[in-house]
Amino acid sequence: MSQETLVFRNECTNFAGNRFILHYFRFSPPIFLQKGIVLLKKPEMNALGKALIGFWESSIGKKLIVAVTGVMLVGFLIAHMVGNLLIFQGRESLNDYAYFLHHFLHGWGIWIFRLGLMGAFVLHIVATIALVRENRAARSSRYAYEATVQAPRSSRMMIFSGLTVLGFVVFHLLHFTVRVDPDLAAMKDPMDPSRHDVYGMVIAGFQNPLVVLFYIVAISFFCTHLNHGISSLFQTLGLRSEKTKWITGKIGLAVTVILWLGFISIPFLSSVNILKDKGVPEKSAAHSAVIEATTES
Ligand code: HEM
Repeated sequence: MSQETLVFRNECTNFAGNRFILHYFRFSPPIFLQKGIVLLKKPEMNALGKALIGFWESSIGKKLIVAVTGVMLVGFLIAHMVGNLLIFQGRESLNDYAYFLHHFLHGWGIWIFRLGLMGAFVLHIVATIALVRENRAARSSRYAYEATVQAPRSSRMMIFSGLTVLGFVVFHLLHFTVRVDPDLAAMKDPMDPSRHDVYGMVIAGFQNPLVVLFYIVAISFFCTHLNHGISSLFQTLGLRSEKTKWITGKIGLAVTVILWLGFISIPFLSSVNILKDKGVPEKSAAHSAVIEATTES
């Protein structure tokens, strides 16, 4: 009598969307026999799932995702730059601000914000790549020259500067958020030793000329990426025409230059000792108000 042994299982879907599991058995004497068994039914998708898939599959849906997440990311950059510039007001302002961010909503606030930022970042990249592919496929059938020569060159530049941004963000998070340097991690606010001294950490973190050079080069690359990204955003949204080309270009450039100057100023001025540790100020009424508000939230 022949003996059967299960060799492998293979899950597949037929043209009607029904899911099968095929079991392949080996019988002795060795011949293959296939047993097809319908085990699973195509799951019914609810109305919300159908609406979400329809939204993602439409070109306007993806454009909306790119636009909303793009505005969120630029909004984060503007807020981060403005927050960082508090360093010019002194230790108390920057450390109060950092304390507020870390203790808002009993410490949950920063995690909600981080998740939102990560989600926006991932969605922005995935939807942009999907749109670029769709546009390229549509264009290559109409304008063979543009598709093969021009599009890859600008895409290559965006990929290169985008990778630089990714490298910068990883370095920056290790530098100031994870604080891999034990000297920077151990810095305590002399006004309130129970909290971290972000002010002292940033100034001390920019005493190494190589680190400063890295920040300046990486932020400059980042800004070229941003400038191109903002003008592509206008293009993607159909807001760039012959009439609006000038103004949209200037808006993108203005946002980029403001961010570039705002971010670059801190490492540059710290490295040449213009921005330096001003010592320990008297505690002000504003400081007590921040601590009280955060404790109550
Ligand atoms: C040279 C200019 C910059 C300075 C001085 C600076 C400073 C800082 C500091 C001190 C923190 C840690 C805050 C804390 O944990 O209390 C931080 C976090 C962060 N920075 Fe920057 N930053 C700069 C530029 C940038 C740029 C250009 C980007 C984006 C490309 C960026 C993205 C971030 C992110 C994503 C975090 C993590 C926020 C979190 O805690 O979840 N930074 N930065």
